[in-house]
Order: sequence, then C-alpha cells, then structure tokens
Amino acid sequence: MKFDTPATTNPIDQLNVVGRPLDRIDGPLKATGTAPYAYERHDVVRDPAYGVVLGAGIAKGRIASMDLNAAQAAPGVLAIVTAQNAGPLAKGQYNTAKLLGGPEIEHYHQAIAVVVAKTFEQARAAASLIRVAYDAVPGTFDLAAVKDRAPLAKETDSSGPTRTAVGDFNSAFDAAAVRLDAHYTTPDQAHAMMEPHATLAAWQGDRLTVWTANQMVAWSTGDLAKTLGIPKEKVRLVSPYIGGGFGGKLFLRSDALLAALGARAAGRPVKVALQRPLMFNNTTHRPATIQRIRIGAGRDGRITAIAHESWSGDLPGGGPETAVNQTRLLYAGAHRLTEMRLAVLDLPEGNAMRAPGEAPGMMALEVAIDEMAERLGMDPVEFRVLNDTQVDPEKPQRPFSQRRLTECLRLGAQRFGWSARQARPGQVRDGRWLVGMGVAAAFRNNLQMASAARVRLDGRGIVTVETDMTDIGTGSYTIIAQTAAETLGVPLDKVVVRLGDSDFPVSCGSGGQWGAANSTSGVYAACMKLREAVARSVGIDPAQAVFANDQVRAGARRVPLAQAAGDKGLVAEDGIEYGDLDKRFQQSTFGAHFVEVGVDAATCEVRVRRMLAVCAAGRILNPKSARSQVIGAMTMGVGAALMEDLVVDTRRGFFVNHDLAGYEVPVHADIPHQDVIFLDETDPVASPMKAKGVGELGICGVGAAVANAIHNATGMRVRDYPITLDKLL
Ligand code: MOS
Repeated sequence: MKFDTPATTNPIDQLNVVGRPLDRIDGPLKATGTAPYAYERHDVVRDPAYGVVLGAGIAKGRIASMDLNAAQAAPGVLAIVTAQNAGPLAKGQYNTAKLLGGPEIEHYHQAIAVVVAKTFEQARAAASLIRVAYDAVPGTFDLAAVKDRAPLAKETDSSGPTRTAVGDFNSAFDAAAVRLDAHYTTPDQAHAMMEPHATLAAWQGDRLTVWTANQMVAWSTGDLAKTLGIPKEKVRLVSPYIGGGFGGKLFLRSDALLAALGARAAGRPVKVALQRPLMFNNTTHRPATIQRIRIGAGRDGRITAIAHESWSGDLPGGGPETAVNQTRLLYAGAHRLTEMRLAVLDLPEGNAMRAPGEAPGMMALEVAIDEMAERLGMDPVEFRVLNDTQVDPEKPQRPFSQRRLTECLRLGAQRFGWSARQARPGQVRDGRWLVGMGVAAAFRNNLQMASAARVRLDGRGIVTVETDMTDIGTGSYTIIAQTAAETLGVPLDKVVVRLGDSDFPVSCGSGGQWGAANSTSGVYAACMKLREAVARSVGIDPAQAVFANDQVRAGARRVPLAQAAGDKGLVAEDGIEYGDLDKRFQQSTFGAHFVEVGVDAATCEVRVRRMLAVCAAGRILNPKSARSQVIGAMTMGVGAALMEDLVVDTRRGFFVNHDLAGYEVPVHADIPHQDVIFLDETDPVASPMKAKGVGELGICGVGAAVANAIHNATGMRVRDYPITLDKLL
C-alpha cells in the first residue's frame, strides 16, 4: 500500500479496539517470567555450550601475542575463537568498529576472543587464563581537549546536513538587544538496559539460527550474514522478546557474532551473554557533547538570531550526535545557523541511545531558552509561545503536518499550577528544601519507514499476524493486535501476533520512535489486502464489504469469517510504503514538560517532586502503553539530568564506571508520581493510522525542565550535566 496522500476515513477510525487503554497482551508472560528471552531458550536448545567473551585490555594498539595454551587445557573447554582462527570476517553495515578485534585493537573491551566450554563457570575460568601482550599506542580520548580541532561532520543519511544557515546570523546576533552565548555539555551515557546483549546460536549444516535480543531484525540478519560472508538466506534471526534496548540493540553486536563463531568451532549450539562489566565498553554508547548556543532577541521577546553548534566524537567512520536537529525546527527567527563537528576519539563506538540527537540537544537548547526568558524578564512559557512557528523556519514554504506546541504548553501550565511559580529564583522554602518549578518544550521528529506484515485467517476465525517487528517492552504486540482486530472486525482475543523472526515480512523494527506508527500501518495494509481476499472468496464486492462481529457483510448478506476462510484459510501479505508527504510536510511530535524539584538547602541533594508531560503526537493507539512509554522516558530524562555519566579515563581511554553500581540510573525511590496528558489529535499526513511516534518524545526536554527547576529553586545555573550536588555547593 502506497501512502502518498493524507489519510481519509478508514476502518481504523471506528476506534472499537484501537485507541483504547488495553493491557499489554504479553503482560502475563512478563509478569510470570515465562516470556522466552534469548538466554533462556531451553525450549529450542536443551543443552547448549557456553561462550564467555574476552575484551581487549587496551584502547588502541595491537595484540603482540596471545597465549591460549592454559585456557585450551582447562576443564570443559570446547573451543576458543580469536581473529587468528575465525577465518575471514567482514564488518557489518551498521558497525563502526569490528565485533571481533585483533591484532588491531580499536577500542577498550573490543572483543578479542570467545571461550566455549561445557558450563558457564568453565568458560569463565578458562577465559581468565588467556595471556595477552599488547603494543599500546597513544589514543585520543578527551573531547574537550580536541574540540577546537574537530572538523565539520561528514554528511550522512541518518544525520541529515552537517550545517544549515539561513539569513545572516552574525550580523543579526550582534544587533540584537538581548543576547545569550553559552556552552553546555552532556556526558557519555550508557543504555544500561536490564537484559544484557545475549544470543543462542545453532548451526544446521550451513544454516545458522540465532535467538537473540535485537531491535532491528532485518538490519542485523543482513549484518550477521555479511560479517560471516554467507548468504542472508542462510541466517535466521529470532528476537521475540527484548529486555530493554534503548538503541543499544539496534545493531548486530559481539554476542551474536561470537555465539555463531563459537557454535561453529565447537560443533554444537552456544549461548553468549555479555558480562555486565563488559557491556559499557564493548557495546555502543551515547557520545558526549559540547554545545554552544547563541540566541539574540528584541526587547519584545521575539528571537531574531539563533545558532546551535555541537561537538561530539566517535571512532573513525562513525557519525556525530545530532544534537542540533530540534534547533532547526523548534522556534521562529529569521537568522539561523546550525553546525555539527565531529572529532575522532578512540573511545568505544558511539551510536544511537534513547532519542539520539534531540535528547541531548534539548537538554542544552531548552536551558538556553529559559536563560533568554529570564534575561528578557518574560515567563518561559510565554517566551516559547511567542516564538512558535507553524512552518519549518529554515524552509518557510513547508508547514508542519500538525504542530500544537502552544496548546501543550498552555494546558500543561494550567494543570501543573504554573501560575504559582515565583519568577525570581530561590524564593520558595518547604522545610529544608528549596523548591522550584521548571518547564521545557518537548520535541522529536516523526519518521516514516516502510513496514510489511503477513496476515492469515483460518477456519476457526483466528487471525494470525506475522512481521519481523520487535517489542522492546513498548507494547508492539498489543497495538498490532488492536490494529488487526479493528481492521478485520474481530475481537482482540481472536488475534495472534508473532513478532521478531527474520522468516517473517520485513518491518520498520523498533527505533527512533518510528516503531508504533509504521509497524501498525504495515499491518493495516496487510489486513486491507486480506479483506479483499475474504470478500472475493464469498462473492462480495470488496468496496461494499463491512467487517464487524467476526463477519463480512454486504447488504443483507452475512458470512462468518471462519466460514469465509474455508479449510485452507486465507492469507495476505502487504506493507506500507511512503511517498513524499514527509518532504511536503515537516512531521514532528510536540509536548511540554513541567517539573518541580526540591534542593536540600544544606547538602544540595536534588529530589524531583512532581512531573507532568503533555504530548501531541497524532492518534494515540493505546493510551496505556503510550503512557508507560512516556513515564519511562521522563524517568530516563531525570537520569540524564541528575545521574547518568560514563566517566572517561582520559589516559587509558575507557569508561571507568562500567557496571550498574557505578553507572547510576534512577530507581523507583527517585521518581515521584508522574502525570501524562495526550492531546486528542490525529495526523492524517503521518500514516494511515493517523498516528506518529510518541515514545521518545517523552525524554526530549525533560532534562532541561529539571535543570530549569533547579535554577528556579536555587538561582544556580548548571550547564554541565549531570547536575550532581557537587556542582550546586
Ligand atoms: Mo532508539 S535510540 O532509536 O532505539
């Protein structure tokens, strides 16, 4: 199905099932511990061997020698795979560094061996016996130290243009009556998901099956085949349940490759879970940024000039953290400049994490906006409203498909009790707590991605949906079932959803908040095709057919779907493909975050007291799962504002706090009651579901709202995240 004109009325609009706050259909499996995760696939392989990964002990250089003798002789060892004996390996399209390093080492804890043994303990003990001698060479690890030498990032598909300029920023900024020129920094951050990267691999002859945890089944099937140098058709990748991804499982990682290599070498199935201490340096992370924002405005509060420059680093061949994305689109202003600079750093691979680009970008921009409002003596809600735009400010002929930022801000202000905020900081005391309120806009782009599905109707009237879409804890199973139930006129319990298998049609996968709207649109397309097949099979004109109550009907004629399916059943496969609507209209999602914090007057400990997010993201397919997404994202925003910080050892080039004790994320006790309001809207330009992404919108802006609340509470303006108490003392 080609989607190239805005959606008109369609079966989804009935909203019998879609749009309802239904419980997740996979909930009981999760709550009873019976959802089969990759490392626990006792149902498919009963007695696998265990692989333990060894990570490099230097950040840059070469392996001079590797003594495997003691490890090979250790009890239970079946095989040891290194770059020396693995045979030729390519690099995946989505990988920046090699997943099995050696003799060249590209980053600390790059995998250099997998030891396979009969038990996990044997593999771990043997891995500790491998002796490696390195020739280390100096590397570059400190972004701040090399910032001034960082060249413009190369243009890439995912990051869009490196530099944009409209009008004459410098002159307009110089002439502005009120100006801000400030630097902000965000640190390296880790996904820190609960489930580590894990894979069970088994070969049948030249065919490989991997049960793994991966957000993007087709990308990673392709990259596993490419890395091994075998045809894609020989690889099956299965990923039905994922214990948290956050972008860290968008790509093929070393667990999958080394399980496959280990299984081939050992001649039996092997499973590998990355040890927690390895995950922070072996896998990807969100790169640190240094951001400079300059804003000029007239005394009337209108922005006349806005510039956002961002510096980040990555290994050779990597890309920038696209922290300037939102600044191109969020506020009006005639004279504009954005620029991304990319330094080569020899730290582990940087890549997507929890709304890459906008999440760290908004942490800077929305504090800068708060600072400007303060300089202008304006309320920060009013300052944002005044500088709203309904068109792309870089391309004014291009409207937003929907943009209700102003409504989000106004409704949020009203519900949160914003009028009680004291404009002057440091005025409100509650016992030992200094109390403040902060606001920030939320903004995240909406992406259209092709997505396909297969739908089968059987003789019992059961509808089975198959697509390689994944559910990373987001609710994909449920909204896909809702979509099929709505389109085919059956109750939810007549729909079976099967996900995360490369044998199924290729979906959009889960990432960049594109999963929900696109995967359901693909399922909708397949269901519409199935409707045609059902109608034809019973001699009803598809254009007249009505699907409801497990029946297809036209005029006085009614046929139960089970009967229409016949003994053999009916099957249809289709997908959603997009035209140029995303070029004609800027498609973004909007919101407003309101936060109240308390700062201990003596210790400067920060506690979040209240949070509210108002979101405008098109039709909300399931308000319960969408709310869960947003409160999870708000929690991540608190983590980014107050806690999360990969500390770089700038001499040896690795992240020091590589476990969940040293890498702090919020726990329940850190998070107060959170409110989420969705504006009632549809976006017919975005998808036939009239829905857009919403999950990552919830994280974009929260960190700044926390920072702005701390400023309001204390008068302290901290521009370097995380805002730990030492920065407030
Ligand atoms: Mo998200 S960081 O694109 O999985």
